[in-house]
This record gives sequence, C-alpha cells and structure tokens, in this order.
Amino acid sequence: MLKASEAIQIVQGRLSERRFQHSLNVAQLAAELAVSFGVDSEKAFLVGILHDYAKDLNGDELLLIAEDNGLIDNEVERQAPDLLHAPVGALLIEKELGIKDTEILRAVRVHTLGSVKMSILDKIIFLADMIEPDRKAYPDLERLRQLSRSSLDEAMLLGLESTIRYCLDRRMILHPHTVSVRNVFLQKVAGL
Ligand SMILES: [Fe+2]
Ligand SMILES: [Fe+2]
Repeated sequence: MLKASEAIQIVQGRLSERRFQHSLNVAQLAAELAVSFGVDSEKAFLVGILHDYAKDLNGDELLLIAEDNGLIDNEVERQAPDLLHAPVGALLIEKELGIKDTEILRAVRVHTLGSVKMSILDKIIFLADMIEPDRKAYPDLERLRQLSRSSLDEAMLLGLESTIRYCLDRRMILHPHTVSVRNVFLQKVAGL
C-alpha cells in the first residue's frame, strides 16, 4: 500500500492549498470514523488523502479523460463535469500511482454520488467529505456530524437528502443516481 506520507506529498503537489487542507481533514476524520466503525483506519486515511486527486482538473479535462475511458454514466455529467472528478480520480490513482486495491478505488469512485451498495469505508469517506471541520456551514451540517458518529446509514440518508435539497434550492442540476441511492438508504433506515 502506498505510504500515507508519500500520498500526502503527491496530493500536495497537485491540489490548491485549500483543497489539500480539505483532503488532510477528510483523511483525519475518516481515520477516526474507521476506528469507531471497526474498519482499517490506515486505509481510510489514505482514501481521504486521495479522494479529490482529480479535483483540480477543469471540466474539459475531466470530460476528455472520462470519455476516453468510458466513464460517462449519464448525460448529466456532460452538463456538470465536476461530478466526474470522483471516477476520474479513481482511474488516475490506479494509472499514475499504481493503486490496485479495489476497496480504495471504489471509495474514491463513489465519494460524490454514492452507490446503491456501499461498504463501511465508502460511507465513511462520503460523510467525512461532507462534515470535515473546515466545511462551510449548511443547514444539516451539525445534525450530520452527530449522526455520522452513531449511524452511518442514517447519516448517509440525511447527507443525500441535504445534497438533493441544496440542488433544488439553487436550481442546480441533480444527478438521478443521487435519488436512487437516497431511496436505497431510506429503505434501509425506515425499513420500507
Ligand atoms: Fe470530491
Ligand atoms: Fe472532497
């Protein structure tokens, strides 16, 4: 496994200072959550550092890489190419850093839209990304921080609903996948 210190150096060289700090925050929080939910905290730290590996690529670059590698899943991604930084990031850390661990690659790939089947690590990264200490305040943030300590599934449901509400309030494009994943977590939490 790539050493955390190496990953930190690599990511620091690719991302703006603000995004690098965000990645460190996500890594630290993901490692803490991993300990409390009984998964590999070193791996969680590494995924946190790497999760936004492709975040500083612009929309055209993301689209080009995604198209070349068959990563476009829905037309919405052409209109909001920033969504592609997650699957493109997973592709690039495999190609450029030689990461083969499928748990790491998947957690990076699903960190913005989630997935209908998410591992504990996937959920931890998704949530740590939304609640890390430097996140600007938003309506569900404090509740989401509390829930992330007690129930990952309930926190995922709120995190997804918060994202959907955010998009609706601002008339931003909403990826249909977010709705499917929200429904899956609603079923889990509400036992529907
Ligand atoms: Fe991201
Ligand atoms: Fe992030």
